[in-house]
Amino acid sequence: MSETSNHLVAVYPGSFDPITNGHLDLVERCAPLVDRLVVAVLRNAHKNPLFSLEERVEMLREVLQPFPNVEIDSFDGLLVDYARHKKAQLLLRGIRAISDYEYELQMALMNRRLAPEIETMFMMAGEAYSFLSSKLVKEVIGLGGNISGLVPPSVEARLKQRFPGVG
Ligand code: PNS
Repeated sequence: MSETSNHLVAVYPGSFDPITNGHLDLVERCAPLVDRLVVAVLRNAHKNPLFSLEERVEMLREVLQPFPNVEIDSFDGLLVDYARHKKAQLLLRGIRAISDYEYELQMALMNRRLAPEIETMFMMAGEAYSFLSSKLVKEVIGLGGNISGLVPPSVEARLKQRFPGVG
């Protein structure tokens, strides 16, 4: 399809450290709505990630392999510059609870100021995942809790390797 047609491209940015079933649910629901969904891992996170960029990308590739119109990539710099480079019209973000709203609103408004032609699209997290975050998953497994059903099985296996003797 030509780049000038109605080819709808969305970028789903994040840290994905690691991908959870909440992220997966969002991809499952958004992918059928667009022509191409680019899941883009932020490269220069100030946060200290548990998994390297390469590992995070690899996990995303494993888990999202069944979706033919989903591409996995990484980016640094401004998200809107990356989105323009990918010829995306949409940025996808998930919202779980009201607590996400303020941060997401700030980002969406700043991104709109920087790139008015790109729209941020919010999808509500599935209710089963509205309490779920990568951070909590890491904390729970690190303290010996059960994370099954919260992350895809391949990710659970990697987390168990990271925290041997727990979970
Ligand atoms: O999964 P996260 O950590 O909530 O994702 C945050 C992310 C990657 C969407 C955000 O940090 C981001 O877009 N960073 C890129 C830098 C940028 O464009 N900053 C200005 C946005 S207001």
